[in-house]
Amino acid sequence: MAIVAPSILSADFANLERDMNVIRDAGAPWAHVDIMDGHFVPNITIGIPVVKALRRVSDLTLDVHLMITEPGRYAEAFCKAGADFLTVHLEADTPERILQTLIDIRAMGVKAGISVKPGTPAEALEPYLTFCDMILIMTVEPGFGGQKFMENMMGKLRYLRSRLDVCNPGCLLEVDGGVDASTAPICKAAGANVLVSGSAFFKAADKAEFVTRLSAE
Ligand code: DX5
Ligand code: ZN
Repeated sequence: MAIVAPSILSADFANLERDMNVIRDAGAPWAHVDIMDGHFVPNITIGIPVVKALRRVSDLTLDVHLMITEPGRYAEAFCKAGADFLTVHLEADTPERILQTLIDIRAMGVKAGISVKPGTPAEALEPYLTFCDMILIMTVEPGFGGQKFMENMMGKLRYLRSRLDVCNPGCLLEVDGGVDASTAPICKAAGANVLVSGSAFFKAADKAEFVTRLSAE
């Protein structure tokens, strides 16, 4: 069974509590929270106070995806705000500081994730494989919802699944970008077990059916 993590990037930001309940009522166990700084990506979304507010109104697993430069500067604040998973981008700082940030996140009792943009090869993740609880493979350029799924990222998933089976079998493998009912099976076949879905989830007429279909093996 795959974990479905609807992305609140496609929710109504004036009604986040309502939309967190929409996610819960559809049977999805996680909510994916996209944090963008207008620097690492060309868009700005929400920050620490909103994560804190979401934590107050929801028991869903908060999967916080930091698309921000030098994420280590803010890791403690996002952990304290209530993130359950905190994912940083490999490209967002020096390799040393990214590694230290993963260590710091785990030390705070939060699951640590690392993500790569489409242009970064999977091999670049090698030094981090045993320091993380989740790897997030972007299947669009980060920054916006509603983009086209990049099927040519599936090789990265297959490579990482085989590497993780050897050195960190419990590590989750997440995909983000353009995931819907037709692309989800491709991701699962390539080894993904966490599926982020923003626009497709919020557009689905029957959200419970959408979640059931995406979760299925
Ligand atoms: C994009 C974000 C995604 C986004 C996905 O940079 O990281 O989480 O919400 O949206 P869809 O599912 O519409 O591609
Ligand atoms: Zn995301």
